[in-house]
Amino acid sequence: MRQALFISGRGSNLKAFLDESAGLNTQFVFSNKLCPGLKWAKKRGVYSEIKSLKNEKDWTDFAEQLNFLKIKYIYLLGFMKIIPKKFLDMLDAKVVNIHPSVLPDYPGLNSLEKTFLDKKAMGCTLHHVVPEVDSGEIIFQKKIKQVKGSSLTDFSYRIHNFEQALVTKFARMVN
Ligand code: GRF
Repeated sequence: MRQALFISGRGSNLKAFLDESAGLNTQFVFSNKLCPGLKWAKKRGVYSEIKSLKNEKDWTDFAEQLNFLKIKYIYLLGFMKIIPKKFLDMLDAKVVNIHPSVLPDYPGLNSLEKTFLDKKAMGCTLHHVVPEVDSGEIIFQKKIKQVKGSSLTDFSYRIHNFEQALVTKFARMVN
């Protein structure tokens, strides 16, 4: 199954995924801005592009490009731009997102920090992408209780590992 990975930042999930056998099928890495994660695509020899996607035409041209490349799955691995409905409607690919909270709790930005401060169960969710942010059908979810003495850094590290495991598990299933 031909797949693309979208990122906007550090790219630790991207790196981990490209190191897995399920990641070997990756034809395209995309970012909406110059970001550190793009170096992993270059190191692994995967084609990458940056576009800022400012208006509707940018998005529709991009959907056509992805369809032309016959991309069937798009994984949002820390992609920080809201995906417009028209783009989703045009795409031949399915889009899935990894989010660092136990959805439907804590959608949107800074979920990890907010969950930690509220002392709620932490975790991550792999879900289908729909136009409403972090609201699509849940594919897999991992939940971990907060234990006294654990820091946000500990949780962040553990949750990242779970995020990578969920994405890889799904990609193995559909590949
Ligand atoms: C991940 O926690 C992901 O869930 C969130 O952004 C983070 C990306 O981290 N949406 P990285 O760029 O893979 O290091």
